[in-house]
Amino acid sequence: MTTATTEALRLTDRVNRIEPSATMAAVAEADKLRQQGIDVVDCTAGEPHFPTPQHIKEAAIAAIQGNFSKYTAVAGTAELRDAIAHRHNVDFDSDYRREEVIASVGGKHALFNAIQVLVDHGDEVILPVPYWVSFKDIIRYAGGNCVLLETDEAQGFRVTAEMVARLITSRTKAIILNSPSNPSGAVMKPEDMTEVIRLAHQRGIWVLSDECYVYLNYSGRNFSVGSLREYKERLLVLGSLSKTYAMTGWRLGYAMAPSAVTGAMAKLQSQSTSNPTSIVQKAAVAALKGSQQCVEEMRREYIQLRDHVIQGLRSIPGITCTMPEGAFYAYPNISAFLGRGGLKSASDVSGRLLREVHVATVPGEGFGTNDHIRISYATSKAELDRGLERMRKFFATL
Ligand SMILES: Cc1ncc(COP(=O)(O)O)c(C=O)c1O
Repeated sequence: MTTATTEALRLTDRVNRIEPSATMAAVAEADKLRQQGIDVVDCTAGEPHFPTPQHIKEAAIAAIQGNFSKYTAVAGTAELRDAIAHRHNVDFDSDYRREEVIASVGGKHALFNAIQVLVDHGDEVILPVPYWVSFKDIIRYAGGNCVLLETDEAQGFRVTAEMVARLITSRTKAIILNSPSNPSGAVMKPEDMTEVIRLAHQRGIWVLSDECYVYLNYSGRNFSVGSLREYKERLLVLGSLSKTYAMTGWRLGYAMAPSAVTGAMAKLQSQSTSNPTSIVQKAAVAALKGSQQCVEEMRREYIQLRDHVIQGLRSIPGITCTMPEGAFYAYPNISAFLGRGGLKSASDVSGRLLREVHVATVPGEGFGTNDHIRISYATSKAELDRGLERMRKFFATL
């Protein structure tokens, strides 16, 4: 939209401060080509390729048949909040209680509410790069300033307490952590996470730990900052059922935090969406309380897909790629091709991959880096092979 039109509409400053999600934009471009009948290999998906497990679907059907169709408490039913706390306490040795849990309409909604209740105009929020696209815009919408923490790819995008300490000012309100990370798949060492949390606690700074990929960790040990019980008073753990149980469309996420914070988030939620869908809440209870075998099965398949795609990417001359230790994204470095064949940016690379060989990827700029594209490997091996072959041909022409 042009500035003139925007001014004529007199939209708010706060909505003009943000941009549409770069991931959604890449998905829309790929869709356009597909609608023209073009065979696109789609590597943009920020979601599992698995269907939702059967026992979860059955719980939702039973909820519909049982007329569980009324409003619930804004923060979710007591049954669901207890199930969220219990699952986390069992899996991570944390000690959350019902009052410290709020269920929202997806993890993004929980994050949005958390930032709105914690970040004021002019507050600084430390955000490690590369970052998931929505962090920056949600912080800006609240009037906060993102203070970017640059990381080193050669060090696996590592974030340490010393790096964080250098960026702290009197205006620092919060630090965002996201391990495993979207887009890089990097997993923070538990020691590094502990040091950051300890530092933040000492300085009275909030840590928002987005752990929506916490169960998709291939480094050997799932770790949640929620297990650091002694630092709870400045900590928010943000979670989601989207990736863990292949439930992206169902929209169920949560936050665990001091009850004063979950209470404020519930107040905000009471003036917007109210409760997450009643039926979905029943399905979520089944997911959290049922067998976790489905999570393990999906995790094992992601590991195989990861190994396959990384091997394929690294075999393309000019491409380098760190080994992702979690989530389901590869973040290859394509900087060797910048300056060749008229390519100036990751967006150029992504755009030409789509137009010329019909492979959809997400350019790194949306995640704060110019040298990468994001490739989701949450798809079949056969589809990944088709994508890799097309990419190999494209890069060979440069
Ligand atoms: C890092 C991260 N946080 C949060 C979310 C939000 O997921 P949802 O709103 O589906 O729970 C996503 C989704 O892609 C994500 O990658």
